[in-house]
Amino acid sequence: MEDYYLGWLEQVEKALSIWGCCRVDIEPRLIVITGMGGSGCIGDYVYALASTRKYFKCPIFIVKSHKLPSFINEKDLVFIISYSGNTLETRHTYLEALRRKCSLVVITSNGFLERDAKQKNIPLITVTRGIAPRTALPEMLLAVLNILDTSGLTIVSRDEVEDLRRFLKENMAKAYNEAMEIAQFIYSNKGTLIIATHTPLEALAIRGKNEFNENSKIPVKIDVAPECAHNDIVGWENPFTDKWTVLEIVDPRDSIGLKIIDFMDKIYREKRYPIKKILLKGEYFLQKLLYGSLLLGLASVKLARLRGINPLETKNISKYKSRVHDILGQP
Ligand code: PA5
Repeated sequence: MEDYYLGWLEQVEKALSIWGCCRVDIEPRLIVITGMGGSGCIGDYVYALASTRKYFKCPIFIVKSHKLPSFINEKDLVFIISYSGNTLETRHTYLEALRRKCSLVVITSNGFLERDAKQKNIPLITVTRGIAPRTALPEMLLAVLNILDTSGLTIVSRDEVEDLRRFLKENMAKAYNEAMEIAQFIYSNKGTLIIATHTPLEALAIRGKNEFNENSKIPVKIDVAPECAHNDIVGWENPFTDKWTVLEIVDPRDSIGLKIIDFMDKIYREKRYPIKKILLKGEYFLQKLLYGSLLLGLASVKLARLRGINPLETKNISKYKSRVHDILGQP
């Protein structure tokens, strides 16, 4: 499993090698990104990247559900993302988007979505097969950014992805070592994990939560400032338990973000919760997001190893997927 994360540089290189392969001819009213779990976080990342670009004007809407909101229609560009190509919620949104004649793009490695998109001649990017869905983050994310850039809807350019490649090459070993320290810190304290961060890094907090859920098999709470200063901080006045461990993730160049997390830091310190602060490496936001994702992915795998747990296996997701047809019905 560690190798899947350490293979992120190759994923970036593969994405670069197919840059420009596929385009869509639409000036969309809305860009919709659908998917669940490891595939669902792609929407969060694209949203975060777009929201930090002053020149990008098209609204982005994320769907992590079997239901496609009724306002989505043929004026919209809909990305359907499912690593396996079989996730039922995503198949539901795919077929509904087809019925509504939306412009579609499919990103998958296999399964129903790959077959159906080929049959219907729908723009498709097929990513590397046979790895854990959540570890295909760079390839799936860059597939979306590739199609947007090639179609004149640039959020991230090919040059920026080249910079990302260089950055990952230089920082892979550092990320690995830092991840090992994070895992040791969480393992030795054994409190329920809180990931505290500031906007626009909420995508990273959600991703980190999911990584520790799926790889390390632990529940995780996230506090995202400034919103958490309007609710979560009151919860910290009187929790049922004081067994918590805090990972603070900050962008060292974001002066407001730093100050808000400093404020949160004082609240955690008053409660004597152990705290580890992560300063994200990277020049640009894409680099920071991917560096943080790599850290949290590797740390969550290491924590699983320290606990004697298999990080790859996600038994309860498999159990859910074997029953979800009975719950949602056929798409
Ligand atoms: O990373 C995982 O294994 C999960 O979060 C999956 O991504 C999730 O169950 C959805 O499956 P898929 O990505 O194949 O659509």
